[in-house]
Amino acid sequence: MSDIFKRQAAEAAMAELRPGMRLGLGTGSTARHFVDLLGARVAEGFACLCIPTSEQTAAQARSLGIPLTDLDATPELDLTVDGADEIGPGLSLIKGGGGALLREKIVAAASSRMVVIADMSKVVPALGAFPLPVEVNRFGLEATRRAVAAVLHAIAPGGALSLRQGAGGQPFETDGGHLILDASFGRISDPEAVSRALLDIPGVVQHGLFIGLASKAYIAGPDGLVTYE
Ligand code: 5RP
Repeated sequence: MSDIFKRQAAEAAMAELRPGMRLGLGTGSTARHFVDLLGARVAEGFACLCIPTSEQTAAQARSLGIPLTDLDATPELDLTVDGADEIGPGLSLIKGGGGALLREKIVAAASSRMVVIADMSKVVPALGAFPLPVEVNRFGLEATRRAVAAVLHAIAPGGALSLRQGAGGQPFETDGGHLILDASFGRISDPEAVSRALLDIPGVVQHGLFIGLASKAYIAGPDGLVTYE
């Protein structure tokens, strides 16, 4: 059922498209619908230049004939459309459930606007029920893990921290070759403070709190489509 709502949210975001746009393409099952719809538009002659936020999205976009570039050639984008794991107050987000948070954040930050697409289950009164992905360098993993655990336990004494596992019993590796620690806060009442504390840890590459990046969200659910701005 939620897949129908994801598709509806992606369809709604098509209204944001203008010919010639430089677009950031998100990652995940909802963003996949958007890329699918964009591919159909491109096949009809719609002109755009896109930057994917993961190898997975790049492969999908290539298979649909969507013109791709990179941030070195095109450092400023008009719009990024991406999914989210949680959408909290003020369009604050948790992202990175699919492991693409670093490229997603770099691409969103390079975009004039970020529009989120999601089904209603992603909307929460406060962030943190979804474990916060923290991307870390492989070097010094145990030291970094302890430092991230200290930040987590200062806020959520019983909170769990786990190294994300990938296929074949190996740790999950991001497109950038890093690892992910998933931090279960339960509730994050001050996302800015958590963001600062995590980014102060040298081994932390980035985290999945997106604050002040999204300016609009299309949310679809059983009661229809809602737009948050
Ligand atoms: C990937 C992400 C995704 O946008 C997020 O996990 C939502 O995915 P889905 O649309 O499959 O629910 O941040 O890193």
